[in-house]
Parts: sequence; structure tokens; C-alpha cells
Amino acid sequence: MCGIVGYVGPRQATAILMDGLKRMEYRGYDSAGIAVINGDGLTVRKAAGKLGVLAEELAGNAPTGRVGIGHTRWATHGAPTTPNAHPHVDRSGRIAVIHNGIIENANDLRKALVARGHEFTSQTDTEVLAHLIGEFYDGNLEEAVAAALRDVDGAYGICVISADEPDVLVAARNGSPIILGIGDDEYLVASDQSALVEHTRSVIYLDNGEMAVMTPKGYRVRSLISRRVDKPINQIEWDLETIERGGFEHFMLKEIFEQPESIENTMRGHLLEETGNVRVYGLKLDDDQVKEIKRIIITACGTSWHSGMIGKYMLEELARVPTDVEYASEFRYRNPIIDEHTLVIAISQSGETADTLAALLEAKQRGARTVGLVNVVGSTIAREVDGGLYLRCGPEIGVASTKAFTSQVAALAMVTLRFARLKEMSLLDGKRWVEALAALPGQVREILSRADEVKVLAEQFADANNALYLGRGVNFPTALEGALKLKEISYVHAEGYPAAEMKHGPIALIDDAMPVIVVAPRDAIYGKIVSNVQEVRARGGRIIAITNPGDEEISDLADATFVVPETLDLLSPILTVIPLQLFSYYVALRRGCNVDQPRNLAKSVTVE
Ligand code: F6R
Repeated sequence: MCGIVGYVGPRQATAILMDGLKRMEYRGYDSAGIAVINGDGLTVRKAAGKLGVLAEELAGNAPTGRVGIGHTRWATHGAPTTPNAHPHVDRSGRIAVIHNGIIENANDLRKALVARGHEFTSQTDTEVLAHLIGEFYDGNLEEAVAAALRDVDGAYGICVISADEPDVLVAARNGSPIILGIGDDEYLVASDQSALVEHTRSVIYLDNGEMAVMTPKGYRVRSLISRRVDKPINQIEWDLETIERGGFEHFMLKEIFEQPESIENTMRGHLLEETGNVRVYGLKLDDDQVKEIKRIIITACGTSWHSGMIGKYMLEELARVPTDVEYASEFRYRNPIIDEHTLVIAISQSGETADTLAALLEAKQRGARTVGLVNVVGSTIAREVDGGLYLRCGPEIGVASTKAFTSQVAALAMVTLRFARLKEMSLLDGKRWVEALAALPGQVREILSRADEVKVLAEQFADANNALYLGRGVNFPTALEGALKLKEISYVHAEGYPAAEMKHGPIALIDDAMPVIVVAPRDAIYGKIVSNVQEVRARGGRIIAITNPGDEEISDLADATFVVPETLDLLSPILTVIPLQLFSYYVALRRGCNVDQPRNLAKSVTVE
């Protein structure tokens, strides 16, 4: 969620740091700061607010120096003020630290440091760490950092510099991502690949408990205990253009419109038309292992949890494997029942969500086989699972998840097919499923060509302060996802409900000020949802229906209708969610909200 960047090399650090922070701003953005080694001293500059505030302060008097660190903060300890912004310095003012994560024993460490005469200027756990490193410092920054970290409990990704060793940049990781960028006579550190690609594609992913020491002459990776660890150099596949907005007004809109390609990329090379099956070696599950699985638990957060819910409908219906979907944050604390016949599927766009990671580790510890459906290559979850599928939908920068959702559902559909074809699904049905999957990108493209229709709808409904989303069966999770999209970017209170459940309470809310968005493709339970829509109509609710061509019954009852092409019932969320994503985008735009950086939210939630 916060962004970290560090630089050591021949170029001026400030511009590189600010550029890197700009690219990671979407991760967390309530304050920002940099520290640069300047002559024989350290210049620290920081400001509350967006990165632009800091950039303005630096304009005309940016610190010069060739070693530096920068940070965008999303507050965890202490309010988003300038004193709480990173970097933090030690007692001498000569060591500076930036940090992502939470140091759990910060209070105890702080008390001990205060007893030894330290004074603190912020409420942060990071300042505690800076002081601790300072206490251990006797001319060797690397060893001081290692010693301090041995006293620390909790999660961190850190970068440290010292004015007394003006060529040295030290980074360490435990729980929060740290990536080293290997350039020509220069080295970068970042918590996110997007800050590195402009400079280098060669990277090293630090693992937990590892540190890196960089100077313009070279780098070394070590652990907290041993002096050297050999690490492979990986290549980043995404280029800068992929990460930038490509002419769209917002990342979110760009990402919505990328879905024909992103869904196609998720499925590329996996679909087998002839055998009505999928080739998914990455799952690392052979036929016998698949047959051995008696139960599946899907764990995830937010939008990824919604795609997991759709996965449950697919897996139970077609593969007949009992499947539970668990909020990762709940799963990890409730003593879940797991054995070696349980498969745990962790779904995460970022691959760094702290709750999902912890749930996954818990599942592993209890003996489950694990699979990850993850977008970010080399992310922690991707590296912890036994097997998995990369979503390959490209970087998702907009805070509201869109293309990752449809790719997750496509990936779950492929996992389902793998299981179903080994269990009960016929060759013919397998072929139909593959054909339907292959048709999805074109169908999404067709929906997007009518985005203006959704814009008109959004403008009509943008003044409402509440909204109810209804769906049944596999489109109940779609309704939840539609409601989440609306509330997170337009701050309109929205709830998703199974349509029939509405009469058990929420129906009391319905009047002509409450838009009701009904997700009602003409599937096996279409007839049932018609009666639910009638109940809304009878109470004067304003209805927007998402349905298929040929629908008459719901369209007659609705104030507005948007049609999506027909597909297999269980795949319909990939199509029905598109107008809901567009609707929330256009409502937010109309209400003047910051679509890509909604208040209080961060893209990658790396704290519990
Ligand atoms: C909503 C959204 C969040 C994420 C959630 C999990 O639009 O983006 O709800 O889905 O924080 O994130 P990942 O998928 O990165 O684990």
C-alpha cells in the first residue's frame, strides 16, 4: 500500500525518486517524502497530502545527491501529517529509514528507547526503527540494520541510508515486498515493479528475512544472519507503456476497456478445443491429485472474494466438489478444518494482500495443497503457493479492481473445467464450455462498444445516495461486486443482495429515490427473478435491468435496460459485470470523485 523507492548510482537521486513515487502513488497517498545524501549530510524533505505537494516544495530547490530514498505513505500508525511522513531519522539525524508494513513490538521498543533517553517526533513505528538502527550503528550500516531487525517483530519492507556511508543503500524485507532493480552501475529498490521498469527490467525479489546492500560498485544479498545469499535475476515483462494510461482519462476506464485482451491473455495457451479441456500445468495437480481432492476452500478479500464466490458456483455445479469461500481475514483466525484432501485456492490481484497471504500460510501449515490465482508475477502469494495460474491481465493501477475480476473468473472457469472433465463433465459439454470461454473476449468488446448507453444511465441516476443491487445464483456475487464498485469510487451507499432475500428486510428501503440494479440474464432462474423485480416495481423502486437480448418481461418492468450477449449461465458474470463497472465509473465521474484514487483506499492492502 505504501510505496518505497531507493537509488544509488551516478545520476541525481531526487528526480529518480520522485518519478518512482509518482508511478507508485496509487498504492498509498496521504503523504510523501524523500531523503538524499547531500555532501556529507542528509537532506530530508516531506509533506502531507498528494505527491504534488512535495513536488511543489522541491521545485527550484531539490536536494542534490546520488544516493536517496523516497516513500509515499498510507497511514497505519499516526495521522497522515508531515511529521508522520517518511523518511524518519535516528537520534543523530544521519540515518534515514523508509518502511512499509507494521512493526508489532514498536510500543515496547519505543518504551525501551525512551528509557534510554531517545525522543520521538512522530507517532510512527518507523521512527522507532530508525532510532533502533541508530543505536546499533558503529560505522557499519549493514550490520546495524541486521542487528536492529533481529529485535523487530512484524512486517517490514525497508530502505535505509546513512550520511556516514554516503555510497551505501541497504534494503530488507519481511512480509512487505522489496524488489531490487539491477541497472548499469546503478541499483534501485522499490516495493513495486512500476517504479523500476523505466530504468531496468532486471530484478531480484527479496524473500522474507533477506537484506540487500548496494553501492555504485555492486550489490550483495544476505540474510539477517548470513553474509551472502545467492539470488536469481528475473526479467520484468511489463513495459512502461503498459503501465501508463494510454490515452484514457483514468486508469480504471483504460482497464475496463482492456478486458477483451486481458481475458484473452488469461486464457491464452490454456484452452483445448479438440478435447474440451484445459492445459493448466501451472496448477501442478496431476489427474490422481485432482481426484484426491475432496473439498476446496477459496480464500480472498474484496473483489477477489467476489470472484471466488462465482468459483464456488462453478466448482460445485460442474465439478461436484464441495467448495467454501472464506474472507481471508476471518479464515486465518478461526481454526479452519483442513486436511491433505483439501485444496486451498488463494485469489489475489496484487499477490501481496496481507490477509490473503496469512490465510494461505495458515492453510499450508495445516497441510492443505495450495493454488494461487494471482496477477502480479513474482509477488509473495505467487511464490508461496504450490501451484497456480497467473492472470496475465497486465498491471492494474486503478484502485477499483476491474480487469483482474474478469480474469479471475476466467481462471476459475479453467480450474473448474480441469476438475469437471475428470469427474462428471462429458466431452461435448467440455467443448461447449471451451467454445463459450473463447467467445467471451469478443462479447466483452461488443458490450464496451455500447459504453455510452451506460453513461446515459449513470447520468440519470448519479444523484441517488443509495442503491440496491440484486442478482440470483451465480449473479448474486456479480450484484455484490457491482455494489462494491459503486461505493468505493463514488461514495454512494450500495448493497448487493440475492434478489429473493430482498423481501426479508431490504425491501423496506425501496422507494422512488432508490435505484435498484437487477442482474437478470435469461438463465435457468430467470423466471424467479422476474417476480422479485415485480416486487420492487410495486413499491415504486426505479429499476435498471441487465439482461439478455430477447428479454421482454423484465424490460417491461424496468425503467432502463442494458442487454449483454448470451453465454453459458455460469460464465455470465464476466459479461454482466461490465455494465456495472462502467456504471460506477460514470456515476463517480459525474459526482466529481477521484476515480483512480478514491479516498481512504489503497491498491494493495499489505496490512492486516
Ligand atoms: C476493490 C478492490 C479490493 C481488492 C482487495 C483484494 O475494487 O480492489 O477489494 O479486491 O483488496 O486485493 P487483491 O486482489 O490484490 O488481493
